[in-house]
Amino acid sequence: MSKIGVIGGSGLYEIEGFVLKKRQTVTTPYGKPSDHYLLGKIGKTDVVFLPRHGSHHNIPPHMINYRANIWGFQKLGVDRILSISAVGGIKKDLKPGDIVILDQVLDMTRDRKSTFHDGKHGVVHIDFTEPYCPELRETLRRAGTRVRVPVKNGGTYVAVEGPRLETASEIRSFRILGGDVVGMTGMPEASLARELEICYSGLSVVANYAAGIRKRKLTVAEVMEVMKETTEDIKSLLSETFRLIPDKRRCVCGEALREATI
Ligand code: HPA
Repeated sequence: MSKIGVIGGSGLYEIEGFVLKKRQTVTTPYGKPSDHYLLGKIGKTDVVFLPRHGSHHNIPPHMINYRANIWGFQKLGVDRILSISAVGGIKKDLKPGDIVILDQVLDMTRDRKSTFHDGKHGVVHIDFTEPYCPELRETLRRAGTRVRVPVKNGGTYVAVEGPRLETASEIRSFRILGGDVVGMTGMPEASLARELEICYSGLSVVANYAAGIRKRKLTVAEVMEVMKETTEDIKSLLSETFRLIPDKRRCVCGEALREATI
């Protein structure tokens, strides 16, 4: 039976049916994860929550220990991760409050520890053609339909370094490159999960129009407000996703390391 990890805001574990069993601190060879993990059950499914920015939202995106967070999930036996994040909408038809199931990534981060493979055990190049697990994406899509939460199926996530927001010109160029949404936390989270053969999916909430789309200044308050307003939709999407997720993985994420080492 699969164990499912959720990375997201700290309120998300207050999801209907979640029975908290314990809070667990995990040590890793890469240092400390963002917080303790919340272990529990939804029905028969084991679920593990981690607030990405810490439970007091005090870790900025560029200082998150992504390797420790993902390693910690693996140590706890998690083989699938649902990742929730706030993003700016680049594509003009995306508006605040929209929810997107991601299917591609453009990685513009610069200064992050982005791999577990530092050459000590051979040179590893994992396949990342499809950065998000197709089975989880499909499960999220079906869950959205069943609980009548509108979701956009597919979107390219542009991962930026942050913590500053983008310039109008950066957003224009991301649009030309095919970006749909922009955020600061999606990478290297996704590729680290793949390196550990953990399925990973990205569910993004458009919190604001990206820089330069509207004439006014972007504020953190509007981002927080939209995230709060969509929490209930995200929770019901997650609940249904847990119900629909197949017991056994049928995707190829679990074989990512096969034929990947020189
Ligand atoms: N840019 C980058 N990250 C973000 C944004 C944005 O506009 N909104 C929420 N996270």
